[in-house]
Amino acid sequence: MPNHIKIDSRIKKFNKKITVSGDKSLSIRWVLLASQAIGKSKAYNLLESEDIKSSLNSISKLGVKILKKKNYYEINGLGINNFNVKKNCVLNAGNSGTLARLILGIISGTNKKIKIIGDKSLSKRDFKRVIKPLRAFGVKIFTKKNNLPIIIKGNNFIRSIRYFENIGSAQVKSCIMLCALNAEGITKIKAKKSRDHTEILFKKIGIPVKIKKTAKFDYIEVVGKHEYNSFEYRIPGDISSASFFIVLTLLSKNSKLIIKNINVNNSRTGIIDCLIKMNSKIKLINRRNYMGEKLADIYVKSTKNLKSINCPPSINSRAIDEMLLLFLVASVSKGVSKFTNLEELNKKESKRLDWGFKILKMIGIKTKKISNHGIKIYGNPELKLDKKFEIMNYLKDHRIFMLCTIAALTLGGKWKIHDKNSIKTSFPLFINILKKIGAKFN
Ligand code: S3P
Repeated sequence: MPNHIKIDSRIKKFNKKITVSGDKSLSIRWVLLASQAIGKSKAYNLLESEDIKSSLNSISKLGVKILKKKNYYEINGLGINNFNVKKNCVLNAGNSGTLARLILGIISGTNKKIKIIGDKSLSKRDFKRVIKPLRAFGVKIFTKKNNLPIIIKGNNFIRSIRYFENIGSAQVKSCIMLCALNAEGITKIKAKKSRDHTEILFKKIGIPVKIKKTAKFDYIEVVGKHEYNSFEYRIPGDISSASFFIVLTLLSKNSKLIIKNINVNNSRTGIIDCLIKMNSKIKLINRRNYMGEKLADIYVKSTKNLKSINCPPSINSRAIDEMLLLFLVASVSKGVSKFTNLEELNKKESKRLDWGFKILKMIGIKTKKISNHGIKIYGNPELKLDKKFEIMNYLKDHRIFMLCTIAALTLGGKWKIHDKNSIKTSFPLFINILKKIGAKFN
């Protein structure tokens, strides 16, 4: 199978109901929390992707038993800090920043040296953000320039800390919360807003945690050394994966789509709020609650009169993985859109803010830089492409591949998009679902 796709026609009108794969953030959290619960935890609809395989392989190297059944996974947890770590243990986090950062918190109580490695993209990413709080806890970290590979040597006398998480990163916040489980006493975190799945899960599975939310910050207190029992989880669909199909529908003609069973936790729905502000025909239907998370089906219709947005920075963390899709919608909306305070976007699997400029320029959309953290997009509702485009995605960023696929299927032109295998990290079924809706690939 070639590692690229070719697209030379827009998708024809469609009217379909789909599901997308399980939420990546929740899948990784389930694996890690189940690994140190007491007894057998079960998960249905666990995302089956490389990032989750890396998570399962990592806990298995820590001595945790995993069973894969026909429609669920089972993890036999060992209790907090009860791992069975062999000499020269190496955990490979692959492409996953979430796994690498969260697992550092999990293994902080282990007094054997453990090495964490990752792929080319992950090895370029910054780990100072987690090294700093981990060292404050009393964990030893060995690294060159705050990048992977990292060697961690925890100990049994982790002390609780007070920490101000001022990036707005759920990965950092979660790393601290997981490390706090190994610490004596209460860890207190003041955190800039970010996705709150870890807090919700802690509460639901009986880890003593206090949460106070204000407009700007969340205040979290975690009681350490508290064992918890195994638990069952039915992972809902991932809004980050669903978003590609939302935008596909909006920008296609006369089409409708229902995406069933999506996690619409408020800390993840920035894209929906922005798209609705831009006039998009989107509704959340069949709303319900599950394990403290909000779920819904997403109903979306093609929309003609999209308008620009001045995106408030407070939305950024709620749409951080969907920003490029918003840039694409802004490109065909009437007026000038503005997105600012996006420093974090260049710290993802690849420099996504830079990619935004590059792709929009390539398709003939005028943009302007706002300092080094923002973009102005001069929308063109008449945009129709007929040229040839080729995308080389050298850090193999899955979201860049999927973004370009959606652009090709909605705007026209003849596209060759490389590094198809990148979707294996987060959404291996992406192409199959597109085909089910009617997309044609050469
Ligand atoms: C994630 C948090 C986000 C997001 C990533 C998944 C998580 O990163 O970009 O894809 O599951 O906690 P940051 O927390 O670093 O912003």
